[in-house]
Amino acid sequence: MARRRQIYEGKAKILYEGPEPGTLIQYFKDDATAFNAQKRGTISGKGVLNNRISEHIFTSLATIGVPTHFIRRLNMREQLIRQCEIVPIEVVIRNVAAGSLSKRLGIEEGTQLPRTIIEYYYKDDALGDPMIADEHIACFGWASQDEMNDIADMAIRVNDFMCGMFAAIGIRLVDFKLEFGRVWDGDYSRIILADEISPDGCRLWDMKSNEKLDKDRFRQDLGGEAEAYQEVARRLGLLREDDEFAVLDLDSHRKKRGK
Ligand code: TMP
Repeated sequence: MARRRQIYEGKAKILYEGPEPGTLIQYFKDDATAFNAQKRGTISGKGVLNNRISEHIFTSLATIGVPTHFIRRLNMREQLIRQCEIVPIEVVIRNVAAGSLSKRLGIEEGTQLPRTIIEYYYKDDALGDPMIADEHIACFGWASQDEMNDIADMAIRVNDFMCGMFAAIGIRLVDFKLEFGRVWDGDYSRIILADEISPDGCRLWDMKSNEKLDKDRFRQDLGGEAEAYQEVARRLGLLREDDEFAVLDLDSHRKKRGK
């Protein structure tokens, strides 16, 4: 098979040219980074699990009318997506105090917030993804006011949906990060949900034990990160009990055979 053209390589994913114009292939790696890539490692099988988890969440969101870049999953590590112009803003939605919010404002981790908070960060690794306000977004033209209204509305819808989805499987959605993109139709553009939604960019705590089932296990050297991601996939019904290790093993066999 002819080698595909690589469009972009990020920390956890690679984008390749898609089979048709306006499409891309999103490949999920096992690589994990934290603290602006100062900490690096791999979580074995993460790419396979994130591909499945993200597929599940994006297709579920599509059924409630949230437009997304997801078209279909192609194989264990790849999905076909719609090409879009990524808005250079990371949108963080918080329901419970944790992470940088707790640090910045001295609020104890685990405190339920009286209302959901949406924060914006400028997507620039060299600057360490600084937090920004609406004023900066308008001033530097990163997104229009209409686009920001759509982004905030969608972020709240995604949060409401995901809080319910995770609560149903005994998981508290503490916070998470979204990215959005612009797709053009002639002179008009609209905003769609892009990137991925997976334990890499969400804080997910077991409701009973408060055990962390997300990338904080890697960030904080807690160990058991692959098992935590698997547990999320299992509770979402994406892995059969007897299938848990088979999925990952199959993948490592393929890699060994160089396929
Ligand atoms: P924070 O508490 O470190 O600001 O993170 C908030 C949420 O956003 C958390 O669920 C992890 C996610 N996140 C990312 O996905 N990528 C990032 O670069 C950062 C800083 C956070």
